Amino acid sequence: MAKLIERKIEKLGLTYDDILLRAEYSEMDPAKVNVASNLTKKIKLKIPILSAAMDTVTEAKLAIALALDGGLGIIHKNYSAERQAEEVALVKRFESGFVEKPLTLSPANTLRDAREINKKYSGIPITKDGSSNGRLVGLLTSKDYYFDDPDTDTIDKYMTTFDDLVIDYEGITLEQANQRLKESKKGKVLIIDNDKDRRLMSIVCRRDLEKNYDYPNSCKDENKRLRVGAAVGVRDYKDRAGLLIKAGVDVIVVDTAHGHSKNVIDAIKDLKKNFDINIIGGNVATKDGTEALIEAGADAVKVGIGPGAICTTRIVTGVGSPQASAVLECVEAAGDIPIIADGGIKYSGDIAKAIGLGANAVMIGGLFAGTNEAPGETVITEDHRVYKSYRGMGSIGAMMDGSADRYFQTIPGEPNVKKLVAEGIEGMVPAIGPLADHLYQLIGGLKQAMGYCGAKTIDEFQKKATFIQAMPGTASHESHPRVDILKDAPNYPRRT
Ligand code: XMP
Repeated sequence: MAKLIERKIEKLGLTYDDILLRAEYSEMDPAKVNVASNLTKKIKLKIPILSAAMDTVTEAKLAIALALDGGLGIIHKNYSAERQAEEVALVKRFESGFVEKPLTLSPANTLRDAREINKKYSGIPITKDGSSNGRLVGLLTSKDYYFDDPDTDTIDKYMTTFDDLVIDYEGITLEQANQRLKESKKGKVLIIDNDKDRRLMSIVCRRDLEKNYDYPNSCKDENKRLRVGAAVGVRDYKDRAGLLIKAGVDVIVVDTAHGHSKNVIDAIKDLKKNFDINIIGGNVATKDGTEALIEAGADAVKVGIGPGAICTTRIVTGVGSPQASAVLECVEAAGDIPIIADGGIKYSGDIAKAIGLGANAVMIGGLFAGTNEAPGETVITEDHRVYKSYRGMGSIGAMMDGSADRYFQTIPGEPNVKKLVAEGIEGMVPAIGPLADHLYQLIGGLKQAMGYCGAKTIDEFQKKATFIQAMPGTASHESHPRVDILKDAPNYPRRT
């Protein structure tokens, strides 16, 4: 029988700071390494990065910016299911081949109605009954009207009517539709079912063609629409998932603080039984937890208990697992099912370590919360420094707004501040500008790491990478600069 100490205290757990990748012989030019990775067996990422399902990190704007650069955002669920589905739809409509179910109006709608849509989309298909697959009667673009009398003037007076539109039919390929756009020199091809019914099936937009050239590395589905994920909890997951799937979501994350629990396992099983959709389950930090979620049907497993920048789970509950060890343990248990290392990424080197340990992707919250695209409020301090708010989904504020079920606490809709036990804090991070610039540095660091280790691809890197464990407490000190910083480096903020 093992001694009590061996049974009670399992083993040494290591954080990213406790290990370093070992440099190996290399013929690799870091600029030439390929960082594409599999999120699930079906979904490929061009860069191995997800954004966290947090209400100060991922809404449509950040998810679009991330997918344009090859990653994938997970829309948070601190919204009604309808609003969350609309955020998903915004991403799916952003850059598309065929935009199915575009926003439409009827000829009787007013110019004021049109203006609301034209703020986001330049052209509005007009259908007889205003529905997104009604009989097509025209197209209204923002250039077709002024605002003489926006509340009484109706669209029928201003729209281009059916006979003057560029029309094609269901079954046309994307290449053919693009060719029609080029030849017609118009902004949109409208796809209908047939000449008799003229039901609107989808549209193809010139602006999307242009975006395809601008962002050759974007993460897209088979219809050339940007990919996006969304979180669900363990309570209203079925209805929510139904709406998200209708909106075109690519992957659903059953997002909880403790994935190795009955209701998470049941939710995954139930979703897999009822929908044909990729599911990520989490969070776990152990072999048993990983195996349980895979057995339930998860297509990928998310790992991390307590490493996040705003997390207090380890402090408040005493529960957690140092992230590097947790990732390694779960990778070993997962076999060919991808692992996502969630939380604790402080620098690009941590991404390299997570992938080198075998994760297929990392999930990032804090490092993205300060970007222009993140939804958090901008905070300007008395000494004129600019920050953005970043809060844990287990913070009181976020739980009051709906995320309490992530921590198996009060039912949303019945908020009672005194009955919540916080597992996160509400804070702020420096504002750091556009996501794209920041991503360039993060991916640049990963590529350099792969160069040091002589790996051309993520798969090769995962297999080849080995680590050196530093003496506890020493690695971090030796690795960081130890002089006063005169000028900030883009990938090493002064606050550290
Ligand atoms: P980073 O380090 O990237 O971590 O900021 C983001 C991840 O942290 C998790 N998360 C929380 N964990 N209390 C926690 O213990 C919280 O309030 C909280 N909010 C988010 C989550 O997994 C996220 O992706």
